[in-house]
Amino acid sequence: MNYINEIAKLIKIQGVEPCDIESSLTTAADSSFGDYSLPCFKFSKALRQAPNAIAARIADGIESAKPDFLESVEAVGGYVNFSLDKKLFSTLTLGEIFQRAGEYGNSDEGAGKTVCIDFSSINIAKPFHIGHLGTTVIGAALYRIFKKLGYNAVGINHLGDFGTQFGKLIVAYKLWGDADDIKKRGLKALVDIYVRFHKEEEQDAGLTARAREWFLKIERGQEEAVALFNFFKEVTMKEVEQTYRRLGVTFDSYAGESFYNDKMQPVIDELKQKDLLKLSDGASIVDLSRFDMPPCLILRSDGASLYATRDLATIFYRKKTYDFDKCLYVVAYQQNLHFKQVFKVIELLGYEYHKDLIHVAYGMVSLEDGAMATRKGNMVYLSDVLDRAAQKSLAIIREKSPDLKDAEAVAEAVGVSAVIFSALINNRIKDNVFTYEKILNFDGETGPYLQYTCARCHSIIEKALGAFAADGSQAALYPSLAEALKSADADALTAPDAYEVIKLLGKYPDVIRAAKENYEPSLVTRHLIDIAQSYNKFYFDNRILDERSGVKNARVAITAAVKEVLKNGFEVLGLRVVERM
Ligand code: ARG
Repeated sequence: MNYINEIAKLIKIQGVEPCDIESSLTTAADSSFGDYSLPCFKFSKALRQAPNAIAARIADGIESAKPDFLESVEAVGGYVNFSLDKKLFSTLTLGEIFQRAGEYGNSDEGAGKTVCIDFSSINIAKPFHIGHLGTTVIGAALYRIFKKLGYNAVGINHLGDFGTQFGKLIVAYKLWGDADDIKKRGLKALVDIYVRFHKEEEQDAGLTARAREWFLKIERGQEEAVALFNFFKEVTMKEVEQTYRRLGVTFDSYAGESFYNDKMQPVIDELKQKDLLKLSDGASIVDLSRFDMPPCLILRSDGASLYATRDLATIFYRKKTYDFDKCLYVVAYQQNLHFKQVFKVIELLGYEYHKDLIHVAYGMVSLEDGAMATRKGNMVYLSDVLDRAAQKSLAIIREKSPDLKDAEAVAEAVGVSAVIFSALINNRIKDNVFTYEKILNFDGETGPYLQYTCARCHSIIEKALGAFAADGSQAALYPSLAEALKSADADALTAPDAYEVIKLLGKYPDVIRAAKENYEPSLVTRHLIDIAQSYNKFYFDNRILDERSGVKNARVAITAAVKEVLKNGFEVLGLRVVERM
């Protein structure tokens, strides 16, 4: 049930559109003011009446013909406060969770609409490093959120597989490459010779010239050059795919920069035809000075295309291929200007859909021990970070639960989830300093804390199972609990600490929608933390498996619903469920 919508239907204000009333309704921050609230201040002018008087009139009008789902309607100051009938709300919310289970929070609002999400977009023959964590997990979470809301989501890994660096790599490989070492150490061996190239290049300018020649050979499709380039690509993909598997991330397309090699001419022609292309020192540019931006570079003076040229071609291609409603770019904020320029050029070309191009920017992750750069070689590989997080989790688990079976598999799930969580807990634009101590703290706002809460619920349900499902099976649990809800003790459901948990569970679908609206998965992460914290408080203050069956029914139902919603949220964020830890 969409309560905001139902409440809005009860309110009529002369001269105010129903949708404006609906959007003015807010969830009350403090539950002593009810569940929803309508501030009347902004209607004052239209009605030529004081907010207090408006609120009082609305409250009186509804109070006399109050629907069942409302317990009370009160005017306080300039606000109308609505309190839901707690018992009804609780049973409806828990009932809906049991009925929809893994589908709870889903909707079909996006049916028939397509969203392209460009994320992760790693570079071939360069490390998949901690700087890619944000784009990878934020992008993947948005991808799943859009899918849950019924959109056709297209996940695109726009591979950085084009550029002069591949010429350098070929020269380096021919000079110092060792195929066996590359087979053994993969990407790291490639990065090593690339770093060496940069060191030696400082002494030997001839290397740079040779690299340029090899790059031209790739562009022209010369056989050996292309074979080497494909070999580098293969080595990289084999390795990153492992990391993607650990993170639970998949893509629908790997069409990267080189895919657009033969798709840029139409962009250039159209820019010319619409008189947007200017020559400047031999280079072709789109002048953006009117918009307070530096020019967008389309062709260098030697005729070579640029990153922006490819992105323009990409937009044409995606519009044609997917006919997207929105096209998102989950890319670090360092590229703010690049996307502003590219989107502006699309606007200048006269395409209305420039409004549907969205740069979902995110902040930098740094490790406590400082910054990194590929050229110098002191990069922190994401796979190493995952390994270390898993190792450290194993040490903690061995200490806390020495008898745990499958400790290594659990540690992998805990470690990887902790890393994912760390990139999804803060507002995405915030810079983030990463430490293992912080992300693995079982009592903090962390992945392990959420997983631990979920495992706690699981163990309570296991103990209670016999009582609820005749055959003791999980499959029969929800129907039995839905049945048990009918005889659940009303006071146990509506006691403040229990009700707080249920309210948060009821808000979950709104949070998923808000996360989509703001391209902000951290809203979901934060909400799961709120659920876990309020459930744990409830758990410590109450006996879940109470002797009184009505009370037990209520509390086990809450526990099962918490587990279901957490599991659901984990799936959205890419965190793994562990039943014991
Ligand atoms: N490969 C680029 C980088 O690592 C990111 C590409 C983002 N996507 C795009 N369409 N420009 O910086």
